[in-house]
Amino acid sequence: MAKKLIVGNWKLNPMTVSEAVALASKIDVVSANEVVICPPLPFLESIEYPHVGAQDCSPHIKGAYTGEVSPAQLASMGIKYCIVGHSERRAMGESDALVNAKVKALLDYKITPIICVGYGTNVQEDELEVTDVIAHQVMEAIEEVDPKKVVVAYEPVWAIGSGKPATPDHAEQIALYITTKFGVPRVLYGGSANGSNAAGFLAEAHVSGLLVGGASLLADDFNKIIQL
Ligand code: PGA
Repeated sequence: MAKKLIVGNWKLNPMTVSEAVALASKIDVVSANEVVICPPLPFLESIEYPHVGAQDCSPHIKGAYTGEVSPAQLASMGIKYCIVGHSERRAMGESDALVNAKVKALLDYKITPIICVGYGTNVQEDELEVTDVIAHQVMEAIEEVDPKKVVVAYEPVWAIGSGKPATPDHAEQIALYITTKFGVPRVLYGGSANGSNAAGFLAEAHVSGLLVGGASLLADDFNKIIQL
């Protein structure tokens, strides 16, 4: 089986640098998969793990943008991956155009964007509408961008943090669709993925890995996933 990409999205956790360092120290360093931990930005420098990523970045490189973090700054720290367009950020007003600007800025600094797309507030969401919205999100995010240079993470909004994951079959259908339609080589699944259900998703041919939120804060559970 080809190497899968497992990304741990710690979101706004934990609260102290010592907790972050302790958590990272419990994550297995040796894995058959490619593993990236994305802690909150203030902890990036303190965490010792082969691959760490950011959860967001500015579309701007430098200048009068108080509070922003530049892709150039991330690159200077050796960061190779950055999540963009997470549904929690879209809920705070992040537009497809802004996601596209961030993707371009990251690629200028050779950082691989992990572009989150997803839609739907419940599992019964109309399949055609879901595909339509996702297609639109991907298209806008990669406008004027080489699709081979990005990773897309498909996360149904109803599955995030709900304990109700999508089925591996649904994830596979969407991953196949995104890969075929847009030429994006790696599509991850995210949304309540954990040590008990990860194998089902990773067994799917076009699901190239997982974006893991809650379970990435539980070292034992996350280790179970990355050792699959
Ligand atoms: P979850 O989060 O695994 O806690 O559902 C996934 C994500 O938001 O990336």
